[in-house]
Amino acid sequence: MSKTTEIEKVKKDITSHPLDSEQAVESFRLTYLSRKGIITEMLAGIGKAAPEDRARLGKELNALKKLATSRFEEAKAARSSEKASRAAATDDPTLPPPPLPTGSSHPLSQTLEEIKNIFYRLGFTIADGPELEDDFHNFTALNFPPEHPARDMQDTFFIRKDELNPSRDLVLRTHTSPVQIRLMKEQKPPLRAIMPGRVYRNESITAKSYCLFHQVEGLYVDRNVSLADLKHTLITFAGHLFGKDLKYRIRPSFFPFTEPSLEMDIWWETGNRPGQWMEILGAGMVHPNVLSAVDIDPEIWTGFAFGMGVERITMSRFEIDDIRLLYDNDIRFLAQFP
Ligand code: DAH
Repeated sequence: MSKTTEIEKVKKDITSHPLDSEQAVESFRLTYLSRKGIITEMLAGIGKAAPEDRARLGKELNALKKLATSRFEEAKAARSSEKASRAAATDDPTLPPPPLPTGSSHPLSQTLEEIKNIFYRLGFTIADGPELEDDFHNFTALNFPPEHPARDMQDTFFIRKDELNPSRDLVLRTHTSPVQIRLMKEQKPPLRAIMPGRVYRNESITAKSYCLFHQVEGLYVDRNVSLADLKHTLITFAGHLFGKDLKYRIRPSFFPFTEPSLEMDIWWETGNRPGQWMEILGAGMVHPNVLSAVDIDPEIWTGFAFGMGVERITMSRFEIDDIRLLYDNDIRFLAQFP
């Protein structure tokens, strides 16, 4: 038999050799690829062939070895993946189940939880009110003049008009301040509560603004409540949330329902961005007109109020630069805040 016919025969054997069990794969390896295997011996025999045939034989034998090696590698891989899936399919009811991926609390919930805890320790209770409000609670009782721009179509989602009584026009609340009104109507002072909740504004959706967000309102009404009490409460709160080294500033501002009004900024430096002032809340002394609107005598009682944006605070704490991420419910994003 010439060398070439012999190679053809081995090639056929290689292709038809069974490889359907671990033993078959091992016998294939021993037969063709081991040190005593057929191909190894044939390669060693090249030296005995006629010199003019050697190059061609070498080429043919190398191709043969390549074929055997690749069949062997394929069969080995197939066997091990089969083994793995057989192990996975084992139906043993006594085995512990594979762990389920655990969820985590949303970054907004984490922030809200912390804000609530801080105010709980400062003696504040929690109150809430409806997201579908009427004009009276959302605006009128809060001392918004009838022509105030915040009532403009741009900001407010108007739901239903009440032709007979404009105070009962329905809106999606634009802030949590109406809950102050509900609380003061339902309970007598002294009052000390925070009112977390969702609010809505008819704004275009961008990285900085969304059509809904969350606020935490605060209200304290008692005898002799002063601006100093308000400042102390806000500074204590911010210190707990952002840490003792916090740099803050308090600026005069305007809201129809407080007099005087102020805003609090914190100095915010993140990683590589230059530091900047960021407004986190509005506040002030409850306007006498607001107390009168809910039958609380402003000659006897005074109070302070504040309202903060939960998204802003969350975005700064977690260095999130696009508000929409908080509403996409993308697991890849949420999994980063265990
Ligand atoms: N309601 C205001 C807003 O949405 C925030 C606010 C400012 C609430 C001052 C207050 C306050 O209670 O006293 O922008």
